[in-house]
Amino acid sequence: MKLLEFKNTIQEVWSESTSDKIQILKAHMQALVKDKDLINQLTSPLIEDDLILDHDERLGYYLYAYSEGQGTYRQPHNHGNGWVIYVVLSGIMEMATYFETKSDDGESHIFEKEHYLLTSGDGRAFYPGDIHHTLSLSEGTIILRLTSIDLRGELAIGRMKRY
Ligand SMILES: [Fe+2]
Repeated sequence: MKLLEFKNTIQEVWSESTSDKIQILKAHMQALVKDKDLINQLTSPLIEDDLILDHDERLGYYLYAYSEGQGTYRQPHNHGNGWVIYVVLSGIMEMATYFETKSDDGESHIFEKEHYLLTSGDGRAFYPGDIHHTLSLSEGTIILRLTSIDLRGELAIGRMKRY
């Protein structure tokens, strides 16, 4: 799978249901991270900041690549109304998922649900409302992230929440 093919696939499947889209695009991203050209582009030199690999203004999605140093921790968060697919290109990433309960006074409490490691070629998808954390366990872990909408917007209006 080449980046250009993947970009075309996103366009082709965008009108499918969310669950079908996520299933198809996650499988394709898992193939995409094996592409030598993409690996070269992201590793020599190692990308640091978020690199936008694809974005469609009309459909709203973003495909990012980024790297994280060992120990970089992204505290538990949801993604507002967006869904997100993460696929590791190289390195090791820990993730945990959480469920949320609310006490009678409306206060949120989160509890860990699952805990797992992702290495090269592994991917996970998160639906709107799903809560997770990420922790890079290796130096220069490279991750591809496809988000259905601009998460910065979700954060700005308070729908994307950190716990
Ligand atoms: Fe996330």
